[in-house]
Amino acid sequence: MRLTFFMAVVVAVSLTGCLDDTLPPGEGENTEIQFIPNASDFQDFQGWPVAVHRTDRSGRPISLYMSRSVPAEGYEFAKGTLIVKTVEIGSGIDDWEVHAMVKRGGAYGAMGAPGWEFLNLHALSTGAVVILDRGDGTGLGHYSDPTEIPGAMTDAVCLDCHGDAGDNDYVMAPEFRIGTVP
Ligand code: HEC
Repeated sequence: MRLTFFMAVVVAVSLTGCLDDTLPPGEGENTEIQFIPNASDFQDFQGWPVAVHRTDRSGRPISLYMSRSVPAEGYEFAKGTLIVKTVEIGSGIDDWEVHAMVKRGGAYGAMGAPGWEFLNLHALSTGAVVILDRGDGTGLGHYSDPTEIPGAMTDAVCLDCHGDAGDNDYVMAPEFRIGTVP
């Protein structure tokens, strides 16, 4: 009886070992744990360490915020990097158009801009932020920035433009070129 119990434990332990062995790290599916942003991660984004203020190609005031420094070298932004762009239209922050990109890493967005999630946000004067929609950048979303797409002041796909910036890990602003100190 005792021996049977002991054998059962041994079998259970070796089975666990087998399961682990079926998914060797770095092989097959990308099982890297992703950074998945919540609305609270964007709270008070205007206080993030990197902030750029200028006008866009239509002369509208925009700001770009990044939660950490632009990488000094390499080909990609680090997992967990959050970037927000505000188009400061209307009569206050509640009216602004607010876009974000977050580096989730892992297998996310493998068919588009690998690792990046694209979000539309609504910023409130309290500093809080609401997520309006999110995805891998391949879906149609509200977008009215100045554009390489003729007449596109309605809806567009984030990757229509960001897909062209593959040489800078899909980040478009010249201030955020890898190796640049804004
Ligand atoms: C029509 C082209 C275009 C589309 C579509 C577009 N973007 Fe951008 N985006 C830009 C450009 C150009 C910049 C650089 C800042 C600037 O000059 O406006 C930028 C900058 C950004 C930034 C700051 C980081 C960076 O890449 O420089 C974020 C975040 C962002 N966009 C998110 C989005 C999201 C989310 C969508 C889809 C809802 C989107 N963008 C769709 C052109 C576009």
